[in-house]
Amino acid sequence: MNTPNYSLKAVEEFHSRFQKTPRVYRSPGRINLIGEHIDYNNGWVMPAGIDKETTFCFLENGTDSFRIYSINQQEQVSFMLENYNSITTSWAKFIIGVIDEFLKKGATIPGFDAVLEGNVPFGSGLSSSASLECAVAFGLNDQFNLGFSRIELAQLSQAAENNYVGVNCGIMDQFASVFSKENHVFKLDCDTLTFEYFPCDLGQYTLILANSLVHHSLADSEYNTRRLECESALQKLGKGKKINFRDLKKENLEEYRKHLTPIEFNRIQFVLEEIERVHDAASALQNQDFHKLGKLLYGSHNGLQHLYEVSCSELDFMVDFARNFEGILGSRMMGGGFGGCTINLIEESRSEDFIKELSEAYQTKFGIQPEFYPVKIGEGSSKVELESL
Ligand code: GLA
Repeated sequence: MNTPNYSLKAVEEFHSRFQKTPRVYRSPGRINLIGEHIDYNNGWVMPAGIDKETTFCFLENGTDSFRIYSINQQEQVSFMLENYNSITTSWAKFIIGVIDEFLKKGATIPGFDAVLEGNVPFGSGLSSSASLECAVAFGLNDQFNLGFSRIELAQLSQAAENNYVGVNCGIMDQFASVFSKENHVFKLDCDTLTFEYFPCDLGQYTLILANSLVHHSLADSEYNTRRLECESALQKLGKGKKINFRDLKKENLEEYRKHLTPIEFNRIQFVLEEIERVHDAASALQNQDFHKLGKLLYGSHNGLQHLYEVSCSELDFMVDFARNFEGILGSRMMGGGFGGCTINLIEESRSEDFIKELSEAYQTKFGIQPEFYPVKIGEGSSKVELESL
């Protein structure tokens, strides 16, 4: 295993601020190969952690106060357990949310000082927030011997985001951040939380993220609306019985139509088709059928664009560009949508040209210089042993 990346700067900052050596934990952001907007719909997803992450350095301070400094925001937040509810600083909510969830479960969290730094681009659909929550949850659990399992830490971090930050997200991002394994994606059953790792061996192909650098403000509200639309459709189809997507069949779609509004029907159609694509993608990956995998990525984007309606013109432009670029097998928007990244399956030898040409075209069309990241799949949440580095 490679030594995980971590922010040495955060350790140095901790030294100079608090004159002590901290404990250091880190947890990654994530990609999702396929299975978008499926986690909260009880289906399957195929995420992996990446080589961009949040480093959380901290140490008990022997008091009942907390001092947390963010290098990215260049800001320190201080609070006590009696008054943490009054903190409104947005980045601090991710940490306080995690502390709050631990306390709700009866854990004791002593006062600590902390410094954090992350290099997961914000608002890019790469889950900088999950990487922060999971670094904090994993660190506090390990250091204070709180006894939570990795699954519980992922759930607790998700709850922090749902309850404290206010985004009704599913479990995928936190699960990926905690459970990632180098060079593997995993197929996660979001209903049972069982999962299987698949080597992400792509032969002559590779994955490249293209960051549109836009993040439309309706992302959070539309996300919550999509959840409600799916819930309302399930309620209607259940006719008084509580059902989930596992009770529905793609073959019966036409029969469902008459019970639903046209919008609900589209949402349901997308979810059932995307779930099927995840299973097909797992087989394609296992059989090294990359052309098939690429087609599934395009299919996913079509559904997200036209049926689930969570794409935007910038992402559609990038995917359309990919469709016409020789050497690309598949491309789609990734994450919650309304901005962020596309994920592209491309012949390695064509990567440089793709980056250059899409940069030019995107810049001409939108006046924005996009960013590109080759995907490197890294390890999930861990402690960094400073002595051994
Ligand atoms: C966001 C959420 C996830 C998931 C994706 C869409 O990243 O946090 O839970 O729903 O969107 O797949």
